[in-house]
Amino acid sequence: MLRGRDIISVNDLSRHDFEEIFRMADEILEAPDRWSSILRSKIMATAFFEPSTRTRLSFQTAMLRLGGEVIDLGEVEKSSIAKGENLSDTIRMLDSYADVIVIRHRLEGAAKLAAEIAEKPVINAGDGSRNHPTQAMIDLYTIRRLHGRIDGLTIGVLGDLKYGRATNSFIAALTRFRIGKLYLISPPQLRVRDDTRELLVEAGIEFREVERLEEVVEDLDVLYASRIQKERFPDPSEYEMVRGSYVITGESLRGAKKNLVILHPLPRVDEISFEVDSTPYAKYFEQAALGVPVRMALLKLILVG
Ligand code: NCD
Repeated sequence: MLRGRDIISVNDLSRHDFEEIFRMADEILEAPDRWSSILRSKIMATAFFEPSTRTRLSFQTAMLRLGGEVIDLGEVEKSSIAKGENLSDTIRMLDSYADVIVIRHRLEGAAKLAAEIAEKPVINAGDGSRNHPTQAMIDLYTIRRLHGRIDGLTIGVLGDLKYGRATNSFIAALTRFRIGKLYLISPPQLRVRDDTRELLVEAGIEFREVERLEEVVEDLDVLYASRIQKERFPDPSEYEMVRGSYVITGESLRGAKKNLVILHPLPRVDEISFEVDSTPYAKYFEQAALGVPVRMALLKLILVG
């Protein structure tokens, strides 16, 4: 049951929750018009304190497609935050205007704090370098649609496993399923953090850490790529050391399975070269498009059950 719930971290979600969302998204994709007024007279507030394109716009599109309305905090520089208003006061106000609040913030824990203050459900649209639960829903839904299942697949996660909230949430979400093998592919400086590693050990997921895609590419059913999270590096020289350290090219995909699915939460910078876009493996734009039905499913389940 998702009705009335806050969505803060993948760790709060069961396999059953994921499956409920997936089934709802399937229904929405089958007959989108059927749902076009289900959230009439409901209001969603979006409060994005960090840059976003897909997440903000797909949440807003999702709400509009369900017949709901959207209010947006707008650019932080133009809101009262620029006058020094604190997060709690902003949230308290949004709570009194809207039926659901979607928040993105630079600081880890911001969404949890918002959920403690607000009575209305709060959805974390990404905070700090740990949690981005709705991205993980979209990622898994895309895999399920394209491969017909999640269980049993061999999955590689490539890139910034240290600071990436999308990569870490994706890995955490995989622990809800019985995947086959997991490869964590990254330069040594960006290896997965201990908390995520512990989740994998606890879940009994077999994983191997490698430095180069070429070592494992032939084995993969899914390759999840990610951007180096430049803005999260405490020291810019640390970023310079890893910048450009992995790039997926046609060449690096030699020997890949025919039905390999390449995903990326986007935005990409230089980690997938453009030549890959025209291969049958490239599914990241399809993944971004599925952000709308998955977020529609989530909003519907949270607001009306
Ligand atoms: C991700 C994010 O913001 O964490 N983007 C997204 O939501 N689609 C990944 C990123 O910024 O690299």
